[in-house]
Amino acid sequence: MTQELILIHEADGVLELRFNRPEKKNAITGAMYDALTTALADAAARPAVRAVLVTGEGDVFTAGNDIKDFLAMSGGLTGTSAGRFIRAAATFGKPLVAAVNGPAIGIGTTLLLHCDLVYASPAASLSVPFVDLGLVPEAGSSMLLPSRVGTARASALLMLGEPMDAEAAHAAGLVTALVPAVELREHARAKAQKLAAKPPAALAATRALMRGDPGALLAQMDRESAAFAQALQDAEAREAFTAFLERRTPNFSAAAE
Ligand code: COA
Repeated sequence: MTQELILIHEADGVLELRFNRPEKKNAITGAMYDALTTALADAAARPAVRAVLVTGEGDVFTAGNDIKDFLAMSGGLTGTSAGRFIRAAATFGKPLVAAVNGPAIGIGTTLLLHCDLVYASPAASLSVPFVDLGLVPEAGSSMLLPSRVGTARASALLMLGEPMDAEAAHAAGLVTALVPAVELREHARAKAQKLAAKPPAALAATRALMRGDPGALLAQMDRESAAFAQALQDAEAREAFTAFLERRTPNFSAAAE
């Protein structure tokens, strides 16, 4: 039987989406992005769905984009499965809640910037090591992270690629609350259900007002996509992807020539 790589479960107005590829640390493939995008479109269209909860199976939230898939890409993110999902999450009109059960890497972290409530276990960490992969930020994170946590902390995340542990992420305002691992999913689900019981129009309007001008965000995402396309053409990214898959340290000395 084929393993469902995105588990979808609906109850009490809450649609739960769970990354389910634990043997690959929930790295997200094109097919998984497509399943997520379809689920968000379905959630947006059906009034019975009042909130969406995102979580991961196993000990990692998600290790981000599948690096093998990166190797096969040549253009920008716009128009790819990943790009369509990012846009769907960034423009989603209903509450998004996350239960971060472990490391959230790359899009694992940038997705959280589009969530309204983020609950994390002490084992969670946030990291956006795009530069280490010869890449650039996505999902509007080059704009959203500095505005949320300040340029100094955003630079440590986006330029140094240093992970932020759960406590620091909570202190920085990227995480709503820390919850013991055994209670995490139930706690996040209860909060999502609480949102699901509220008047949906007032909730959606409040969410949209807090998020501000979507035009500026989408324009930044287009700029990120163009820079991403450029980065993919450079030797740095190929070397970084190959080194990860070959389990060796990347060598950027040739890439810099
Ligand atoms: N893309 C593709 N495969 C990935 C992956 C990714 N983003 N992250 C993990 N995997 C795979 C590994 O290749 C490995 O596969 P294998 O068993 O067939 O060799 C498997 O998942 C387990 O990963 P491993 O690295 O052995 O586990 P770990 O516990 O030592 O480390 C992570 C876990 C998440 C810290 C580590 O896998 C990692 O750093 N992943 C890459 C994160 C990243 O840079 N993502 C892209 C962000 S843009």
